[in-house]
Amino acid sequence: MEKGRLSRPFFFAVKSRNSSLSLTSDMTKKYTVTAALPYANGPLHLGHVAGVYLPADTFVRFQRMNDADVLFVCGSDEHGAAITLRAKKEGVSPGEIVDKYHNLIGKAFSDFGIEFDIYDRTSSKIHHETSSNFFKKLNAKNKFIQKSSEQYYDEDYNQFLADRYITGTCPKCQSTDAYGDQCEKCGSDLSPTDLIDPVSTLSGKLPVIRKTSHWFLPMDQHEKWLRDWITKGILDGEQQHDPKAWRNQVTGQCMSWIDGGLKPRAMTRDLDWGVKVPLPEGEGKVLYVWLDAPIGYISATKKWAAENNKNWEDYWVKEKAQDRKLVHFIGKDNIVFHAIIFPILLKDHGDFILPDNVPASEFLNLEGDKFSTSRNWAVWLHEYIASYPDKTDELRYVLTSIAPESKDAEFTWKDYQSRINSELADVFGNFVNRTVVLTNKYYDGLVPEQGQLTEQDQQVLDDVNNACLRISDLILKYKLREAQGEMMRIARTGNKYLADNEPWKLVKLDASRVETIMSVALEITRCLSIAAMPFLPNTAQKLQGFLNIDAKKWSDLLVSKLVAGTKINQAEILFKKIDDEFVEFEIQKLREKSKQTSKFPPMKETIDFDTFQKMDLRMGKILSAEKVEKADKLLQLTIDTGIDTRTVVSGIAQHYAPEEVVGKTVLVLLNLTPRKIRGVESQGMVLMAENEEGALSFLETEKEFLHGQSVS
Ligand code: 2FM
Ligand code: ZN
Repeated sequence: MEKGRLSRPFFFAVKSRNSSLSLTSDMTKKYTVTAALPYANGPLHLGHVAGVYLPADTFVRFQRMNDADVLFVCGSDEHGAAITLRAKKEGVSPGEIVDKYHNLIGKAFSDFGIEFDIYDRTSSKIHHETSSNFFKKLNAKNKFIQKSSEQYYDEDYNQFLADRYITGTCPKCQSTDAYGDQCEKCGSDLSPTDLIDPVSTLSGKLPVIRKTSHWFLPMDQHEKWLRDWITKGILDGEQQHDPKAWRNQVTGQCMSWIDGGLKPRAMTRDLDWGVKVPLPEGEGKVLYVWLDAPIGYISATKKWAAENNKNWEDYWVKEKAQDRKLVHFIGKDNIVFHAIIFPILLKDHGDFILPDNVPASEFLNLEGDKFSTSRNWAVWLHEYIASYPDKTDELRYVLTSIAPESKDAEFTWKDYQSRINSELADVFGNFVNRTVVLTNKYYDGLVPEQGQLTEQDQQVLDDVNNACLRISDLILKYKLREAQGEMMRIARTGNKYLADNEPWKLVKLDASRVETIMSVALEITRCLSIAAMPFLPNTAQKLQGFLNIDAKKWSDLLVSKLVAGTKINQAEILFKKIDDEFVEFEIQKLREKSKQTSKFPPMKETIDFDTFQKMDLRMGKILSAEKVEKADKLLQLTIDTGIDTRTVVSGIAQHYAPEEVVGKTVLVLLNLTPRKIRGVESQGMVLMAENEEGALSFLETEKEFLHGQSVS
């Protein structure tokens, strides 16, 4: 094999039974890995999972397999307007909201097998203490500027309006629902005073202006070092990280902020929900949620350390964590907070390490539309788990396959089906099943002797070896999607090896060659059972159960326990195929749920002009109408289309009596495949408009048009 190409400074090689298998290893053995603290104001959807939590979990599983000293922290973000506005909407206290969702999200994570070392919460005492002390230290070091400014105020609610408490038109993209801190449409960072036509989200009224005083972080004073740190990886004159290892969109977004000129940002708010400003003059004010939330990573570490007899400083404090990498897994809307604001705070504080990398994901869309909580256009993680508790690895596989690492991606149930059927079942499952079943059939489950390896055998084993090397290399570069592709390559290689060698045919002619083939196939299966561990933990465990092995480390790849004569177990089907009804059912469920929540159904997939042109739409005149027997909803219409007279069965009987429709000139789709409905052949479709209550109305012409007229 081509040593060196993928090797890293700490390279080690061990001869395996079958091939010159070797592994690479990262020099870094210490990581503090954080995953964005989700707001405890609603459940998690698959977009959150694919973008943040699954990649973080996969990365951490790999590190743990390599005996890295890795700490994986997360928890609920329980402050800020996201929480208080939700509480107001549900008519309950913020405390009730955070309790409800903290438990729901925490359970969903653990049911899905996301294994944090700690899942904490920012309402905890330790977090309030930690963030208060952090603020006091920065204040004592004069890192803030206290100044009074004019801000919007809602007189009905006696409240200043920052962040999500105020909406209006974005001055940059003209979106009419920009918030006081950010426009979600164009991603611009905003201040409430930037908004055009501002409105209070509390009263819906025009706010007034009042004076208030706050602690500002003078971000403008940090531009120079941030530039060096982000583009060159240099911090305090030293190489702190490899800037090339940062994703382009992360560096790009940071630099566009810095190039646009950083502005001082208020680090306190006039609210009563949050961490109180720990100064006498801060009465009635709390810390800005984006100041306290990332400190939550430190508080969570403290809690974990106290419970596990560890020293939290080893994970955060410069002197004790010099050789440790801090990595923040986040979504792209969090980039500025983790790659600019938190680093400024950490540096100002002085005691702490700064992130080595901030692997931020782009967004995941769902069936042609954005995930949306308000429109209930989402697949919720806890609901998926409740419906398909034994399909968590399938979901992990699909989400990693489409992970939005460098550009927005899309989840569709059709794609979910196709990846499970044609990749997991047909390739992975098929290969494993054949290998284990044939070993049981030919050798009573005893691993056969390996004879002389052919060049092809050796090549195949080298391919597997190379795939393992690439997996390791790619995971360390946060390219989880490609890494999983390499894992799948092992299964493909194995599947092809069996298909090419056809041991089931050869067994009668050359039994000894088949022993070698099966021993090679078993070795590939064994490697697969280890390489799959970061991606498909349950499957990997099952597979090891079939093989009767118990591998926990990445380095177990090097030591085959499948020596001739060892007994393996029976196989069971790893992945069940998904049928079309499943896909239909899920899509329908999605549409129904969204319809119940939203007035408007989501936009369908875009179609090209040629597809549109294929529809033959015309104005048709209804000549007669009658009820279809034993069908409450159907009318049988006879329509003069101009070119012919045809029958159309339409589901409008509960909205129109037959006599009401006769004589109307309506819009008809002519070239829809004819279909028998209740024994009557329907030769087209009358197009109707439907409102949110499900009431139907004909689409008629504005002017008196001739029927038979085609529509374009
Ligand atoms: O965007 C969000 O969901 C935030 N709650 C993420 C916070 S991450 C960290 F700073 F706590
Ligand atoms: Zn905008």
